[in-house]
Amino acid sequence: MLDVSGLNVSYSGIRALQDVSLTVGQGEIFALIGPNGAGKSTLLNTLSGIVPAQAGQATFEGQNLLGMPAHRIARAGLIQVPEGRQVIAPLTVRENLELGRIASSGRGGSELDHVHDLFPVLAERRNQLAGSLSGGQQQMLAIGRALMGAPRILVLDEPSLGLAPVIVREVFDALLRLNREGLTILLIEQNAKLALETARHAAILEQGRVVMRGVAADLAHDPLVVDHYLGRAEDPV
Ligand SMILES: Nc1ncnc2c1ncn2[C@@H]1O[C@H](COP(=O)(O)OP(=O)(O)O)[C@@H](O)[C@H]1O
Ligand SMILES: [Mg+2]
Repeated sequence: MLDVSGLNVSYSGIRALQDVSLTVGQGEIFALIGPNGAGKSTLLNTLSGIVPAQAGQATFEGQNLLGMPAHRIARAGLIQVPEGRQVIAPLTVRENLELGRIASSGRGGSELDHVHDLFPVLAERRNQLAGSLSGGQQQMLAIGRALMGAPRILVLDEPSLGLAPVIVREVFDALLRLNREGLTILLIEQNAKLALETARHAAILEQGRVVMRGVAADLAHDPLVVDHYLGRAEDPV
């Protein structure tokens, strides 16, 4: 469904991604894991048409993404939930959701009902300003806004960041439900344990390069992964 191969991206000569290749299959959750500064957001922003690539290919359902303007990529159905949520603080919950509809290009229909069903708190607080929501509610709003665009693949940048474990569980249960309903998800995470538990396939990015890839459950038992990503801090999630 999404194929990336040999992708190179630099910021004014400084290499952020080097020869990155990965494939996200229809209907799966694919996790891209890596430490701070590895290039995870750069990959997402390249796929979304925000950051240009110097070399390589990225195709989504047969369409070449590189060089395509961001709004057309969103209309094609690749929709991102950006790092740090980026909800529009002075607009209401409902207004933020309506903004997300712009990307849908007529594909949409009953997204609002679906979003309210997934996150009832967004219905309860429809007239509240987004800036006054808790971090977890803002993350739900950011996901809801993306869903309003009727995505064919949802790309999330560190959705667990800064959230309490119980809220993280709620957000990830919602992602699992969306996936059971058929949505393809590319999940970018620093929380390797959580991501490997959630995804079917995964890749690990370090300093702009994919250093490991495979079935998520296998990676979770790989001694190198355990040593570098799972072994240290006690992870309450
Ligand atoms: N707009 C930018 N200009 C210059 N360098 C950047 C920019 N964005 C990111 N970088 C650099 O690219 C590398 C990868 O960053 P990023 O993709 O944000 O990593 P991650 O999301 O994995 O934390 C880092 O070294 C970062 O400093
Ligand atoms: Mg990032």
